[in-house]
Amino acid sequence: MKKTDNQMLIIFGASGDLTARKLVPALFNLYVARQLPDNFVVLGASRSDMTDAEFRDKVVNKSPYLKTKLEDLKENYIKGFTDRIFYEDLGSDYTAEYSGLAQRIEDLNAQNGTENNYMFYFSTPPSLYEPIAKNLADVGLNSQEKGWKRLIVEKPFGYSLDSAKDLNKGLQQYFQEPQIYRIDHYLGKETVQNLLVTRFSNSIFEPLWNRNYIHHVEITNAESVGVEKRGGYYDKSGALRDMFQNHLMQIVSLVVMEPPIGDQPEEIRNEKVKALKSLRIMRDDKTLFDNTIRAQYVASEINGEKVKGYREEDGVDSNSTTETYAAVKFFVDNWRWHGVPFYVRTAKRMPTKVTEVIIHFKTPHHQIFKDSGVNSKDNKLIIRIQPDEGVLVKFGVKVPGQGFKVERANLDFYYSSLAQTYVMEAYERLLLDAMQGDATLYARADEVEAAWEFVDPILDYWKNGKDIRMYGYAAGVWGPENSDDLMDDLGYWRNPGENLADDPGYCVIC
Ligand code: BG6
Repeated sequence: MKKTDNQMLIIFGASGDLTARKLVPALFNLYVARQLPDNFVVLGASRSDMTDAEFRDKVVNKSPYLKTKLEDLKENYIKGFTDRIFYEDLGSDYTAEYSGLAQRIEDLNAQNGTENNYMFYFSTPPSLYEPIAKNLADVGLNSQEKGWKRLIVEKPFGYSLDSAKDLNKGLQQYFQEPQIYRIDHYLGKETVQNLLVTRFSNSIFEPLWNRNYIHHVEITNAESVGVEKRGGYYDKSGALRDMFQNHLMQIVSLVVMEPPIGDQPEEIRNEKVKALKSLRIMRDDKTLFDNTIRAQYVASEINGEKVKGYREEDGVDSNSTTETYAAVKFFVDNWRWHGVPFYVRTAKRMPTKVTEVIIHFKTPHHQIFKDSGVNSKDNKLIIRIQPDEGVLVKFGVKVPGQGFKVERANLDFYYSSLAQTYVMEAYERLLLDAMQGDATLYARADEVEAAWEFVDPILDYWKNGKDIRMYGYAAGVWGPENSDDLMDDLGYWRNPGENLADDPGYCVIC
C-alpha cells in the first residue's frame, strides 16, 4: 500500500452540495477503510456562517448521504471522524484577502500535526478558481518550502478552448502544473480504468485493437434523469460541455491511445494527449452537419407519469437551444485507426441509465457459412462502465442441428462476481490518489485543451452554423427519430438494457 502523508484538506465551496453528497462520504469510506493518514484534518471554507459543530452536523451527523452508513456504527467511532472536521467562514466574498484563513490553517496544522501538507479543493463556480489561487499565493499558501501544496479543481474546466486556456494560464501563475489536479470523476470509476487493463494486459485483445480488425467503435452514455434541479447551470452548458468534452473524451482517449511505456502518470497522460490530438477536427459546415446531431427532450409520459419537456424545466429558458442529446461521428487520424468511425452519444431522459463502450469487430474476411446469418452479426466486445459493470464478448457458435447455422453467444464477466473485493467509489479513489500525489487519473492541462480543441468547432457550429437543427425526442426514448442517420449503413445504435447481457432495443415506454 502506498504511503499517505499527514495532511489537511481545505474545501472551498464547502457549504455546497458536492461536499455533503460526494466528498465527505468518500472521506468517511476512507476513514472506515483505515486509509486516512494518522494526522488528517478537513477544513470546510465558504461564505455561509456556520460553526464547526453546525458544519459537522450538516455533512456527517445529519447528512442524508451518510444516514444508512452511520446507522450501525458506534457514536464514538463516528466522533473519531467528525472530530477531524472544521469550518471557516470566509465572509461575504471569496475574493477578499485570506489572512484569517491562513491563520486558521496554521493553527489547525500546529494542533493536529498535518506537517504543512495542504490540499485545496475548489468546489466553487469556475470564475472563482483564479481569484482563490491568487489569494492563496498572496498569503504564501502555494509555497512548497515547508510541506507540499496541491489544488484539486472541479469541472467545468472552461467553457470553450479559449476559456480553458485562460483558466490554465491563470492557475499556473500561482501553482505549478504538477500541483494542479483536474478531477474527472469518470476516471475514478473502476470500469473506466479497466479499459487500460483490458487492452494492455491481454494478448487476446491488443493485437486486434486496430483498423485491420475493428469495424467501428460505439460509445453510449445515457441517463434516465432529466436536468433535475440544475436547469440554470445546464442551460448554459448542454450535453456536449457537461458530459462529452470531459467524461466521454476521457473514455475515447483510453480506447484510442497507444500503449504507454509503463504505468507512471506522465507516460499514461502523454499517450492520452497524443490520442486526443489525433482526433480529426471537423471544421466545415457540411462535415459538421453530416456528423453531429443535437436534440432536446420534450414532454412525455413515462410509465404513466407525466414528465416535463426540457424547456419547461426550472431555470431553463423557454426558447432554449441547449442540447440534452448529443451524438457525434468522427475519425481518428493515425496509423492504428485510419478509416474506423467512432460513434459517441450522450443524453438525458433516455430509457435507462447506462454507459458502455462497444468494439465492433469486422466480420471474417472469407465467409464460409454463407447462409448462417453471420454476416449481419459481428463479434463485439462490450465494456460496461455502469451499471451491471462488466465485460461481454459476443461471438459465434454453431446452432445444434444439421448444417452450419451460426448464432451469437455471450462470454461475460461481472464485477459483482468479485464479491470479496471492495470497489471504491470514484471520489474515494480519486481523493486518495491526490492525497498520495498520484495524478494518473487526473487530467493534465494539455489534455483538457486537446479535448476542447475537438469540441469547440462543434459548439460553434451548433451556435452559429447554417442549417443547424435542433430535434426533439419524447422523454424516455433513445433520442430523436433520425438519430440512426448518423450510423450510415450500420443501421442503428445498440440500445442497451439495464443489464449487460440484455439484448439491444431496450425501451421502457409503454
Ligand atoms: C456530471 C454531469 O459530471 O456527471 C451530470 O454534470 C451527470 O449532468 C453526471 O448527471 C453523471 O455521472 P454518473 O457518474 O452518474 O454517470
